[in-house]
Amino acid sequence: MEWIKNIKLEIINQQETPFVLINLDQVKENLSFIKGLIKENNVDWKVYYAIKASYFYPVLKSLKEAGINGIEVISNLEKNIANKAGFSNNQIVYNGLFRKKQEILEVLKEGGIVNIDSVQELESLIGEQDLSLGLRFYPEFEGQGNFVKKESKLGLDKFSFEKCINLCKKEKIRVRGLSFHIYSNLTELSDLKKSIEGCLNLIDKIEKELGYSLEYLDIGGGFDAPSLLSENFSEQFKEISSLIKQRKPKIKVISEFGRFLVNDAVVIISSVKGIKENALKKWVVIDIGTNYLIPAPGKNFKVFPLIKRKPDNKQKSHIVDAICSPAGIIQEDNSFGPYKIGEKIAVCNSGAYTSVMKEQFIFEDPKHLFLKEGMVVETIDKFKLNDVLRYHGWKIKCN
Ligand SMILES: Cc1ncc(COP(=O)(O)O)c(C=O)c1O
Repeated sequence: MEWIKNIKLEIINQQETPFVLINLDQVKENLSFIKGLIKENNVDWKVYYAIKASYFYPVLKSLKEAGINGIEVISNLEKNIANKAGFSNNQIVYNGLFRKKQEILEVLKEGGIVNIDSVQELESLIGEQDLSLGLRFYPEFEGQGNFVKKESKLGLDKFSFEKCINLCKKEKIRVRGLSFHIYSNLTELSDLKKSIEGCLNLIDKIEKELGYSLEYLDIGGGFDAPSLLSENFSEQFKEISSLIKQRKPKIKVISEFGRFLVNDAVVIISSVKGIKENALKKWVVIDIGTNYLIPAPGKNFKVFPLIKRKPDNKQKSHIVDAICSPAGIIQEDNSFGPYKIGEKIAVCNSGAYTSVMKEQFIFEDPKHLFLKEGMVVETIDKFKLNDVLRYHGWKIKCN
């Protein structure tokens, strides 16, 4: 998160807090980082963006300019957003649990990838011509995902997977590839390697059964932001690439990164509004709410004062919002205190699953500023009272 230190003070001082800074260069850098590793390891690996992490048009435009291979979507709404940003259906990976047949066929007809997630969905497609589909499954290996667990509704278990393979054989549906997504916030890749080994064993088995080779293995998303990865990440990436190349030299790897591409590209500048203490705890109340920074699993917001100082473990406080909910905690045990009322702070790692999951209550949506080469190139204004009222069904004319 070095970039925030280099943002001109006038950009920060001109705005009323809270506001959101989106560094489009960082988004591009994150993509270049993974593309660099792919090139170094000479592996056929296509990087898709899991659009659910952030829908901002400038973000999508930057990823397109930087050469992202395509977009992973989970609904027709998301597919339409990707299309509007200039991605055609042959650049779409369509995952999901409940999709209309017509939507699936449209993506398939134009060469996009559809990963099937239930036997019922596969059955609903029987009779269509020249079907070529992926199957989303739960890989067999010792252990399980840290995000999608074995008992989850997502992906096909061993039994439904077998049913799907038999159906595909019987109905002459081509199995184009396999996909799984079971991790979130991975900073190192040893678990991923084990699950990939499980996938490769399964691919060997079903290729024998089907009598042809699969085109792709889609390993989902789940990597943390580049600035948060462990030191040996590149080494582990190399190991995974070698493993796949050695076992399946012709298979294409697909990943669907969300958090990895956008999380550390966004910082929220907020101010300290109150300090509260009792015998047990100290809270620093800031002016961005958890209606925007929704407290969901995997969120790892880190708060830093803008005036540089060293951490002090004797001064620990919880950084919280002013919403009357016990869940309004932004970071526990922050050690950069003592904070002062009015002081500006930076909430880092705010780019993934925030603007898309935010709720229209208690506080207005903050202003957003998109940055390129340290300059503001686009803005989205703070929501006004009327924006909020309109969302909640008040009949108010646009002004
Ligand atoms: C199927 C699928 N692929 C990719 C992702 C992106 O995950 P992440 O943001 O952890 O990379 C998700 C997120 O939930 C997902 O459900």
